[in-house]
Amino acid sequence: DWTMAAFREQAVAEIRAKVGDGKVICGLSGGVDSSVAAILIHEAIGDQLTCIFVDHGLLRMGEASQVVGMFRDHYNIPLVHVEAQDLFIGALEGESDPEVKRKTIGRLFIETFEAEAEKLGGADFLAQGTLYPDVIESVSFTGGPSVTIKSHHNVGGLPERMNMKLVEPLRELFKDEVRELGRELGLPEQFVGRHPFPGPGLAIRCPGGVTREKLDILRQADAIYLDEIRKAGLYDAIWQAFAVLLPVQTVGVMGDGRTYEFVCALRAVTSVDGMTADFYPFDMDFLGNAATRIINEVRGINRVVYDVTSKPPGTIEWE
Ligand code: XMP
Repeated sequence: DWTMAAFREQAVAEIRAKVGDGKVICGLSGGVDSSVAAILIHEAIGDQLTCIFVDHGLLRMGEASQVVGMFRDHYNIPLVHVEAQDLFIGALEGESDPEVKRKTIGRLFIETFEAEAEKLGGADFLAQGTLYPDVIESVSFTGGPSVTIKSHHNVGGLPERMNMKLVEPLRELFKDEVRELGRELGLPEQFVGRHPFPGPGLAIRCPGGVTREKLDILRQADAIYLDEIRKAGLYDAIWQAFAVLLPVQTVGVMGDGRTYEFVCALRAVTSVDGMTADFYPFDMDFLGNAATRIINEVRGINRVVYDVTSKPPGTIEWE
């Protein structure tokens, strides 16, 4: 008889046994997984845990303040907020290979965690909210030959050499189970229901090279798209929705003038575990309205397209 209450109890015991009186740092991404992992570990070992939130400049609009506010003010869990925008965006400059981008971000995350751990007088463990599908997809594709689809930053993207041992209490869970565990741990419903957000953030939603300017454009388009989804009451019916800024400029016309700006792709899928997904069948009025708002309100975008690819053969993220 397997319940979340039983899982919680067992996980807490296992974390205590593994960690002993060691110190743990936990990287928070703002997503459900790392938040649930942090709260569970905090329950197990209290102030042996310090959370580290790295603002890598690849976050969505308003995200940093939401995460910091929730952990510091709501949960009262010690949190270090690292401003690392220059470090990450600088390292990504000129790089357009998706795997190199992912590995670069993974390496910088670890270097940042190690540097922060040192400031705290050292840490023995690094905690992460790795889920079962992250483990599977970083290793092989179901039923096929062993081939890496993507190096998830929290699995295959980690550097080989790392001083800390890993604590990954959610490694056997699927997303719906993590959400159930989050509810069990008292996470507010609007947080439990948040769409997944990948550790490499907006970098993998800017196919090709990443620049600050592109990230700013993408952030605005993404916020408008999600605002429209919420207003239409569709947020909870969708597994994940986001904008992608394509590295392509097209010609348009605005008033009397010619424009030559970027194309924005909108993505929305339904899924139960992220392993397979179907594109979300919006009605055309919704899409037309979202496109109009994005083009009118965001300088730098003059065309919007909708991605109707399911997974497989597409993946959810574009990189
Ligand atoms: P894909 O694009 O592989 O994504 O179909 C499946 C799910 O995983 C998320 N994703 C990640 N999550 N680190 C994460 O924590 C990553 O590196 C990463 N890459 C993809 C993606 O957003 C989707 O929910």
